[in-house]
Amino acid sequence: MRKGINHYGDEFIGFLNGWKGVLENDFIPLTLEAVDGIQLKGGTILHSSRTNLKKIPGGIEKVQEVFKANKLDALIALGGDDTQSVTLFLSEHGMPSVGVPKTIDNDLSGTDQTFGFDTAVMIATEAVDRIRTTADSHNRVIVVEVMGRDAGWIAYAAGVAGGADVTLVPEKDIDINHVCELLSYNYGHGKHYGIVVVSEGCHLPEVGQVVNENAKLDSFGHARLSGIGEKLADLIEKKTGFETRSVNLGHTQRGGVPTAYDRILGQRYGLHAIDMVHDQKWGRIAVLRGLDITDIPIKDAIATNRRLDQRFFDVISDLEVKV
Ligand code: F6P
Repeated sequence: MRKGINHYGDEFIGFLNGWKGVLENDFIPLTLEAVDGIQLKGGTILHSSRTNLKKIPGGIEKVQEVFKANKLDALIALGGDDTQSVTLFLSEHGMPSVGVPKTIDNDLSGTDQTFGFDTAVMIATEAVDRIRTTADSHNRVIVVEVMGRDAGWIAYAAGVAGGADVTLVPEKDIDINHVCELLSYNYGHGKHYGIVVVSEGCHLPEVGQVVNENAKLDSFGHARLSGIGEKLADLIEKKTGFETRSVNLGHTQRGGVPTAYDRILGQRYGLHAIDMVHDQKWGRIAVLRGLDITDIPIKDAIATNRRLDQRFFDVISDLEVKV
């Protein structure tokens, strides 16, 4: 935004509550004063919602009117795959739009990292560090459940950074016997506690993925994943006899002050996005490739979820004890 105002003489408005605000023409003026110091704030000053504009009858016509009424030259949308599927939809319907990859899940294809991920990992790692204190003092196994939907990036990073005994990611089904063997090996070799990091999207063959049955699917068709940690803790205690607890970190992972890395990445994406607008690169999204920011078609970024592969599974298994 700063580059848009200072270098190009652009004017900005910010739609409130995601696509809901675009549909309802609900916005605030975004001036330099309005965004002063926001790099210190987590979340978004514009608020958010899970509104799937593509599913709203007459939605596209409403957005066309909003574009016209505000004389918009372009729209920049920040978000993950769901948000960006709408950005693509708008640009396919003649509304000049570009995307910026923002999600803690880190699961957009074509970019090395989305912003928000590093902060979530920092919070999850700090939680694992704190949990180690009580697991150690009380001679317990503690299972820590982290977010990430169907991709194990947060679990992988927090598990490795936090030195978990067991790190479980959705890309691989949980082998409960292996989990218990790893913990039992440690207990048999002088350690009297254990830490397991599990991603909310993990599959436990005995129960599948654990979803909150009382919660409705969101407007993009996603079930609310939650509860695998508790199920796993019960199974571990039953099978090993070790006193076991679980902690679900939930939305704490999306709160607080962003890391320096995320602040820099977010601003670099923003700088690139405004150049994309002035170069009329509609239907494209800013991405990080190595140390460079560039852009790719949104359809490539959302075609498949970026998930962990063998390189990361190897890191996890090489850090495990050999049973
Ligand atoms: O996509 C980000 C994310 O935090 C996922 O990791 C998680 O499954 C989901 O959102 C939680 O959604 P909500 O805040 O709507 O419960």
